[in-house]
Amino acid sequence: MVERQPNNTILVTGGAGFIGSNFIPYFLNNHPDIKVVNLDLLTYAGSLKNLEEVEKHPNYTFVKGDICDNVLVKYLFKEFNIDGVINFAAESHVDNSINSPGQFIKTNIEGTFTLLEAARNYWKGENYRFHHISTDEVYGSLGENGFFTEGSNYQPNSPYSASKASSDFLVRSYHHTYGMNVVTSNCSNNYGPKQHDEKLIPTIIRSAIKGLKIPIYGNGKNVRDWLFVEDHCKGIDLIYFNGVAGKTYLLGGNNEYDNLTIAEKICEFIDLKVPKSNGSYRDQIKFVEDRLGHDFRYAIDASKIKKELGWNALESFHTGLEKTVDWYLKKYQSK
Ligand SMILES: NC(=O)c1ccc[n+]([C@@H]2O[C@H](COP(=O)([O-])OP(=O)(O)OC[C@H]3O[C@@H](n4cnc5c(N)ncnc54)[C@H](O)[C@@H]3O)[C@@H](O)[C@H]2O)c1
Repeated sequence: MVERQPNNTILVTGGAGFIGSNFIPYFLNNHPDIKVVNLDLLTYAGSLKNLEEVEKHPNYTFVKGDICDNVLVKYLFKEFNIDGVINFAAESHVDNSINSPGQFIKTNIEGTFTLLEAARNYWKGENYRFHHISTDEVYGSLGENGFFTEGSNYQPNSPYSASKASSDFLVRSYHHTYGMNVVTSNCSNNYGPKQHDEKLIPTIIRSAIKGLKIPIYGNGKNVRDWLFVEDHCKGIDLIYFNGVAGKTYLLGGNNEYDNLTIAEKICEFIDLKVPKSNGSYRDQIKFVEDRLGHDFRYAIDASKIKKELGWNALESFHTGLEKTVDWYLKKYQSK
């Protein structure tokens, strides 16, 4: 068989969601010679509004469809002569996975399998790459100390993280069994513009500005490591091109904060930007019943990607959070 020549067209899945819609404009700007086909089902979590800035870009094509639809996925590989995949598409909200896990199994596991199979059947030779986007939640929960590394054991605790862990294993197996050129990256909690309203930071900002209760799970002490979405996009770009096949890379912002502190920091910004006539937005913070099986702490040791690929999270948490607050204030105040 004649080896296919690189066509410089990548299939980005889930590109209308939070991270994907930050990634696509970044990628198109930085790689004028590469075309992007965005396959997104536009579930409740995806919106084409997130991609208005690229919709007329000559290297950008949007396809509405399901990553579980193997006929469509196979067709796209052939039609666009795809030689790379970056798989963002997923059901991503832990709370929804607790209430109705079924769709998480379908999209996150079966969807990844469908993409892998299409790639396995279409790709011959070396001119391709499959980059799977995953989460630090696959490693379970940390105590007060320690960090996740690429060598940490998988101990997923929620249906969401279990479905992501399963997809990570499938990707790994396609490298081991078929020699597929795969990389996986597992990142910590992202923050920044274009995140769905359901997530923690948008919920805090929206509730504050609408005069509603700002809900914080349990005692507010659960800790996450926050990564500015643009820093994550830069890391994905580096891994996609330079990561070693079969390897995993962890990305974190080295910004560990508990949920209560996040809410307080956001309220401080809003107090300055949209002062209340009396009191502070902090007065609206209320503890609510904890999430079932709530993991206590996630934190990432990102030294491997720093050392091997020269990546660093550049945005400080203060400036990243201020940009984020400004973006959502504009969104929620105009509604
Ligand atoms: N947001 C975070 O903090 C975070 C942290 C770690 C890992 N991740 C991972 O990063 C990826 C992107 O996360 P996000 O926050 O942008 O998610 P998101 O929920 O904002 O976006 C998901 C996108 O996938 C699309 N989608 C869902 N099911 C689909 C299907 N069957 N076929 C095609 N498209 C489908 C949705 O329409 C949406 O546009 C996910 O794989 C997630 O597990 C996210």
